[in-house]
Amino acid sequence: MIEEKFTVDRANKYIAENAQYVNNQFKPEKHFSAPIGWINDPNGFVYFRGEYHLFYQYYPYGSFWGPMHWGHAKTRDFVNWEHLPVALAPDMPYDKDGCFSGSAIVKDDVLWLMYTGNINNEDGSVSQIQNMAYSRDGIHFEKIKQNPVAVGSILPDDFINADFRDPKLFEKDGHYYAVVAAKHKENVGTVVLLGSEDLIDWKFESVFLKGTKEQGFMWECPDYFEIEGKSYLIFSPMRYPKDGNDFQNINSSIILNGTVDWVNKEFKPETIKEIDHGQDFYAPQSTQGPDGRRIIIAWMHTWGRTVIPHELDHKWACNMTLPRLLVQGKNQNLLQKLPDKMVSLLPVISLGEEIVSGRFEVEVEGNLIYQLGSEKDYIVFGFDATGQEVFIDRSHQLIKINGEENWPTERCAVFIEAEKIQVVIDRNTIEIFVNDGQEVLSSVFYLQEKHILNKL
Ligand code: FRU
Repeated sequence: MIEEKFTVDRANKYIAENAQYVNNQFKPEKHFSAPIGWINDPNGFVYFRGEYHLFYQYYPYGSFWGPMHWGHAKTRDFVNWEHLPVALAPDMPYDKDGCFSGSAIVKDDVLWLMYTGNINNEDGSVSQIQNMAYSRDGIHFEKIKQNPVAVGSILPDDFINADFRDPKLFEKDGHYYAVVAAKHKENVGTVVLLGSEDLIDWKFESVFLKGTKEQGFMWECPDYFEIEGKSYLIFSPMRYPKDGNDFQNINSSIILNGTVDWVNKEFKPETIKEIDHGQDFYAPQSTQGPDGRRIIIAWMHTWGRTVIPHELDHKWACNMTLPRLLVQGKNQNLLQKLPDKMVSLLPVISLGEEIVSGRFEVEVEGNLIYQLGSEKDYIVFGFDATGQEVFIDRSHQLIKINGEENWPTERCAVFIEAEKIQVVIDRNTIEIFVNDGQEVLSSVFYLQEKHILNKL
């Protein structure tokens, strides 16, 4: 039997013919999910010709991770998404085992993508190399003939070529840069900086930030940006040690605030913070809107956890969080806020009614605990005034979700004195924004019967 090759055409045909067989029981209405198949990281999040484009790690042929393609969709309001044809398939020698994560940038009205080609070599080793593709119409993408544009051997000798991935593009003072995840031989996470004048010729610039042994062994999906003159670095460390309520997920996502020494091209961190305290938030990626505001979206899942729609053969798996604005708060921290226009598209939820999707906002005074679901199958969330925690507890859900953690993950929480909360529920998802986005908790759940909201 001849093995069929992965191509964009084959993927699009498969999606068109099979999306009708997806079981939507747990599929969110207002959050982005693919028409069929598995998704993970958001990629290439970018504003292009009046619309936000989102690409994503995609395996259309199964509800499990497989040879990665780039799925593609666009939106004007972050709630209504238009699916577009698959943008990239692993169809070249330099990406033959997967088009891994990457990002987008617009140059001279052309949409450019930079992504990692994953290659499983015959001797059992892995190579990860960086490639470029572009599109003039925002729909069809061409990989450039110069690929690969950056391979592991351009890194200093103390780096491992097999873990060199997830380039995130940005422009600074007329130069193009990419922050890329790389693994140091000391088994610590590192972000390296590549530079280019034309997006085609790339060179190694610097080790932007090197981690310590206590900060996880690989920092996936880095992102660098500036807000009001301050510098921020985001990444998703694998195995960042749990610290009380923080970093409860074995793989989490963090944001560093700091400054950059642009002579030596080094990031100098000042503060470190977990971005989201829910059970399902990983590999966030940001972009800038036409008004200059920074907005991030993340994969609403994390590695190693039971994938319920897959177990149930629903033919789809995973969704994104709602996109959130990052806004400078009073102190150093950034606030995460849903855009007003998006909020206005979400119906208001009332207590005691059956819910599919919607939101509510409430002032907090003392204990404020909610139960969502039915009598025997429910989640609990809210503010526990005694412990001063906002939490989500999915231990009463009949469908059990397990993870690689060797500690319980059914309840997640953040210590905070809650004054008000905003809650968005969307069939299988909950996002809680505390004190105008000072902290956020994002989780998925799988309740089989009616979703009724009650106050306890
Ligand atoms: C993060 C990640 C990336 C990689 C991609 C593969 O979730 O592991 O580092 O590029 O997923 O799908």
